[in-house]
Amino acid sequence: MKYDKNHALLECSIPGIPQKSGKVRDVFDLGDKLLMVVTDRISAFDVILPCGVPDKGRVLNRLSLFWLDFLGFKNHLATADVSEYPEVLRPYADDLRGRSMLVKKVDMVPVECIARGYLTGSGWKEYSKSQTVNGEKLRVGYQNASKLDEVLFTPTTKAAIGEHDEAIDFARTAELVGEQTAKALRDATVGLYKKASEHARQHGIIIADTKFEFGKDADGSLILADEVLTPDSSRFWPVSSYRVGSNPPSLDKQYVRDWLDSVGFNHQPPGPVLPDEVIARTREIYVKAYEDLSGLKFD
Ligand SMILES: Nc1ncnc2c1ncn2[C@@H]1O[C@H](COP(=O)(O)OP(=O)(O)OP(=O)(O)O)[C@@H](O)[C@H]1O
Ligand SMILES: [Mg+2]
Repeated sequence: MKYDKNHALLECSIPGIPQKSGKVRDVFDLGDKLLMVVTDRISAFDVILPCGVPDKGRVLNRLSLFWLDFLGFKNHLATADVSEYPEVLRPYADDLRGRSMLVKKVDMVPVECIARGYLTGSGWKEYSKSQTVNGEKLRVGYQNASKLDEVLFTPTTKAAIGEHDEAIDFARTAELVGEQTAKALRDATVGLYKKASEHARQHGIIIADTKFEFGKDADGSLILADEVLTPDSSRFWPVSSYRVGSNPPSLDKQYVRDWLDSVGFNHQPPGPVLPDEVIARTREIYVKAYEDLSGLKFD
């Protein structure tokens, strides 16, 4: 385990257990289960910063757990209670508590399921060139960050490490996973996005878009897997600063990005160490987002 001076967890390692690390999570392979550990790492402009944000991992883990419960869709969660974790993890209980979940390892559908309620990012880029999103023609008149008339399902392939996810249309998705599964993915993705984004909107947060990943159960039904509706898999915008036509600030990252810009960070690693007050303020932003969305107190 590697902690920084503020006791933010930077790296989780468990000797003897195969591990794969993403930008924020360290995932451990326990055979029929995976242990997903959310560290306190933070990235900005695609650079992982040298310091962490204390409690960020716990906040994001709880947020995923909140959504899994709220959405009521069949999902991969086995338990988030460390006392129910396998014996081999017991020595690490204090490091893992609150920031991890044990999930059922499932057969993943090889498509990233993106739902878009607003036109931004790569969707806006494509639309402004060709009036299409994932090849589908849209009406004229949308601006950057416009709310879409209908929620779009814009899947991508799951790229191998180092490669970019490729946008695919519905026909291509059906070729890859079968017509029936493609329809099930689309319906689940759009339905889950709508349910979550309506809830978030009532609590002052716009979920502009999000990415879900699904696995398949033995009986062929979909299982919601991976992280769910966190700021790492979604664009969260504060309702209060939303303006059509301009790039809305990111609820969680904007403050850090603005600070990095103010010191002239060139977006190349290594990033600078954030001052303690910037770390503290960022921690508060995550805690508030969790509390607003869940209606629960953090700690
Ligand atoms: N229940 C599950 N069973 C099997 N695989 C899963 C399950 N849930 C998630 N996964 C997979 O586990 C991996 C989690 O990796 P993680 O998100 O930490 O890193 P990444 O996706 O490679 O990078 P990034 O940091 O950009 O997200 C993903 O490949 C995801 O598809
Ligand atoms: Mg991921």
